[in-house]
Amino acid sequence: MRRAATMKRVTRVQELVYELNAASAMSENVITVGETATMSEVRALLKENRISGLPVVTEGKLVGIISIEDFIEWLADGAEECTVADRMTRKVKWVFSDEPLIHVVSTLERLGYGRLPVLDRKSGALAGIITKGDIIETLLHELEVDYQEEEIRNYRASQFFEDLLADGTRLDFGYRISGRTIDEGGAVASSLKKTFKRLGVPPQVVRRASIAVYEAEMNVIIYADSGQVSVSVDPEFITIEVVDVGPGIPDISRAREPGYSTAPEWVRELGFGAGMGLTNIAACSDEFELTSTVGKGTTLRVRFHMEERCG
Ligand SMILES: Nc1ncnc2c1ncn2[C@@H]1O[C@H](COP(=O)(O)OP(=O)(O)OP(=O)(O)O)[C@@H](O)[C@H]1O
Ligand SMILES: [Mg+2]
Repeated sequence: MRRAATMKRVTRVQELVYELNAASAMSENVITVGETATMSEVRALLKENRISGLPVVTEGKLVGIISIEDFIEWLADGAEECTVADRMTRKVKWVFSDEPLIHVVSTLERLGYGRLPVLDRKSGALAGIITKGDIIETLLHELEVDYQEEEIRNYRASQFFEDLLADGTRLDFGYRISGRTIDEGGAVASSLKKTFKRLGVPPQVVRRASIAVYEAEMNVIIYADSGQVSVSVDPEFITIEVVDVGPGIPDISRAREPGYSTAPEWVRELGFGAGMGLTNIAACSDEFELTSTVGKGTTLRVRFHMEERCG
């Protein structure tokens, strides 16, 4: 890439639109129409497929485009039955499949088109069609891949337990959830997330444990008086206990039903109270245990295997 006089930051998206070509973002299954098709057939194709234009192809080669605008013009002219060849636009703008996305984006922008046919440079055959939506989807996908790779790299960089030379290691630490208000909710989960990352806990495990702790933390803040989160990490497992002092849960199996909630109106207005917290905790964890004594409090114990789990 050209070096500018003043060093400007180049974003990953800017880099990607140079790296990726039209072929990597286009849709290959193009609905096309032949020159000899009738305008009534065009109408049916546009309607059935909910599209606004059709490439016109003869023997695999792009010879024109018939769009909804051409169709409307035909209607305005009296809608006398005729073939696509009589009505199509012959001066078609296209891109080649090996052109970088930056060219595709600028061509779409310049012409104000919604889509461009993509041709194979060698054969000249129609290879696909590309829209702004396709490009955005491809960029998001690539960013996600980058992000995951970086996460894995970061976590490999820190192998806390492997660096300790001992026959057995275990790390215990804790957090208090007391007197916190609902808008401070998530503080424990976010501290824990940072700590896990520093310890070199695999990214998927960090994510699952953070979700579980976030949901448990919110429940303590909303339904109990105060609570304590105890975490124990060893090379194989993460064990988390959330113990609260509060009213307890009278019917645990009912509370665990997806959608069951006793959240008051003001809590629901803040977006909580879908009755999904406990369900999420159970789904995220490898072991789940919930016990409660009415009038005293509730204890949640969850465990996570250290190794990566898919999903
Ligand atoms: N620590 C707790 N102490 C007392 N009751 C609790 C506690 N945790 C959960 N509950 C009870 O269990 C119900 C279900 O909890 P769950 O977390 O699944 O859903 P929610 O908190 O109502 O909604 P969401 O978590 O989706 O915002 C709660 O509505 C509440 O009645
Ligand atoms: Mg909840």
